[in-house]
Amino acid sequence: MDRINRICTDSRFVRELEHIREDEKDRKFCRHGIEHLLDVARLMYIEALEAGEDAPRDLIYAAALLHDIGRHAQYTKGIPHETAGADLAREILAGCGYSPEETDIVCEAILGHRSSSDERTALGRRLYKADKMSRLCFACEARSECNWPEEKMNLEVGV
Ligand SMILES: [Fe+2]
Ligand SMILES: [Fe+2]
Repeated sequence: MDRINRICTDSRFVRELEHIREDEKDRKFCRHGIEHLLDVARLMYIEALEAGEDAPRDLIYAAALLHDIGRHAQYTKGIPHETAGADLAREILAGCGYSPEETDIVCEAILGHRSSSDERTALGRRLYKADKMSRLCFACEARSECNWPEEKMNLEVGV
């Protein structure tokens, strides 16, 4: 978990999460703090293990921890957060011991995390699914105002 913990304590990662927390302090819908990021990481990891795969934990956690890191740039500059996030992720991963090849794999997953297209990589597909699955719609007070279609909401515990 060494490289994963390096991401969690990276000064840019911590700074962006603080900005996002401030940006979202009055948000009633799902937030994008460390709880969400770790929920996504663990759901991805569980799915990979259940599929009997040799799960690349450092890549799974890197993609999950960094997939929404561009949110502050989206809120303040209007840059789509998958694009801003992939750029930030590239900088952060370089300082956390990830190789250029690993960084490309993680950034590609981040770039595709809002699309359900078949073009995505295996890591990207897993990130998309876990991101959606992480939301506790059945226990959400803002559910009636949420723009997620009812059929996509998580109305029971899946994992
Ligand atoms: Fe996102
Ligand atoms: Fe997310």
